[in-house]
Amino acid sequence: MEISPEAHSLLLAAADHNLLLLRSLLKSQTPNVQEPSTLRTPLHLAIASFESNPVQSTHTNGNGTSAEDEKDELSLPPLTKATKTLELLLQNGAIWNSLDTNNETPACIAYRLGLTPLYEVMVDAGVRAELLFGRLEGYMALDDDDDDDYEDEELEEGDVIDISVEAQGEKDEEEAPELVSTTEQTALEKAEEEAIPVTSDVYLSSTLSIDDERILDEDKNGVMMSWESHIMSLTVSNLLPASSENTGPKILNIGYGMGIIDSYFQSSTPPPSSHHIIEAHPQILQVLSNSPISKVPGVTIHAGRWQEVLPKLINDGDVTFDAIYFDTFAEDYSQLKLFFTEYVIALLNPEGRFSFFNGLGADRQIAYDVYKKVVDIDLLEAGLETEWIAVDVDSKKMEGDGEWKGVRRKYWDLEKYWLPVSRFIG
Ligand SMILES: C[S@@+](CC[C@H](N)C(=O)[O-])C[C@H]1O[C@@H](n2cnc3c(N)ncnc32)[C@H](O)[C@@H]1O
Repeated sequence: MEISPEAHSLLLAAADHNLLLLRSLLKSQTPNVQEPSTLRTPLHLAIASFESNPVQSTHTNGNGTSAEDEKDELSLPPLTKATKTLELLLQNGAIWNSLDTNNETPACIAYRLGLTPLYEVMVDAGVRAELLFGRLEGYMALDDDDDDDYEDEELEEGDVIDISVEAQGEKDEEEAPELVSTTEQTALEKAEEEAIPVTSDVYLSSTLSIDDERILDEDKNGVMMSWESHIMSLTVSNLLPASSENTGPKILNIGYGMGIIDSYFQSSTPPPSSHHIIEAHPQILQVLSNSPISKVPGVTIHAGRWQEVLPKLINDGDVTFDAIYFDTFAEDYSQLKLFFTEYVIALLNPEGRFSFFNGLGADRQIAYDVYKKVVDIDLLEAGLETEWIAVDVDSKKMEGDGEWKGVRRKYWDLEKYWLPVSRFIG
């Protein structure tokens, strides 16, 4: 696949951080051209140039700016010039999350090379794009009367998020005919194939395999795994701070899974005075109804999807909770957002705390970091301020014969889990 000489110059100018030439080329060229053999964009190249050449030389000459400006820009430190290059490309419409043949976004390269300032520029670009995308989706949803449209969306806990890590060709085909065809994007296709989303309906009617270490669905997707136990334990200690009260807290947990977090809730001191569990999968409900926790006084089990259970619970009477936890499966971000904007507000005590399993985008650092910021902003808009607690995860140990053996796709590939604890503002 050929690209025009101008497009080629643009790629070179980006790799050289030649701001003057870039400015001039961007007047007529799209910033989303890709190098045919690697599928790298100008954003990729502006970052990847540090791979082989940590200190950049700037040897191409631009035009249209005074000699003084040119001299000033030439003398900038390499990282500053690279930062300005990224900003210039983004201002001109560069897509922040396209993948090269190595299955890397520009931010992935910055992260791998430890180029924090460049990584941060890309995270902020991702946050801006996702917030805008979320808003636009919101406007489109106004036209859509179908309450069940959450099933059509593809963003899931732990997924390679399709809206965050997108095939270059998909967005820009029309304005940039020189882009390589998507049929050449084998790394991309592979990533997409692995990330086939599970819808809520399919999951809830699938047969699960359940043992002491994990729950898998019919397609061998991990629903819950015991490696998450320390996260569940820390979540409980952060949701239930030490208390001198004799009366135990009132707890609401959405999604029983392996019952790990519910066991930690039950072993807290003082134990919960009331503990509601909402669970929708028939097999898990069977396990739950045979487990000792179902006989504990104060425990109430609600069979069904939270979307149907909660409106009734709210209508039935004066129920509020001191701690609310949300961890479902095969639901996208729109459902988590719906939960905290509509239900946490209605069900959490003024001094109460809310948390959720923070696994959005967790198989790629950039997606995880972008979503952490997006969720933080959405929580704030919903009236909740959030503290994020870092929890170490030994991902390396889970490779090979470790936890992921026999699981279709890793839904977690990071060294740090950010544990959210939200409270009402003020
Ligand atoms: C990841 S597991 C929860 C793990 C749990 N936190 C633990 O500590 O073991 C997710 C659970 O949510 C349930 N679930 C999925 N969608 C649901 C829905 N809409 N309403 C209620 N439960 C749901 C699943 O059946 C599954 O049991």
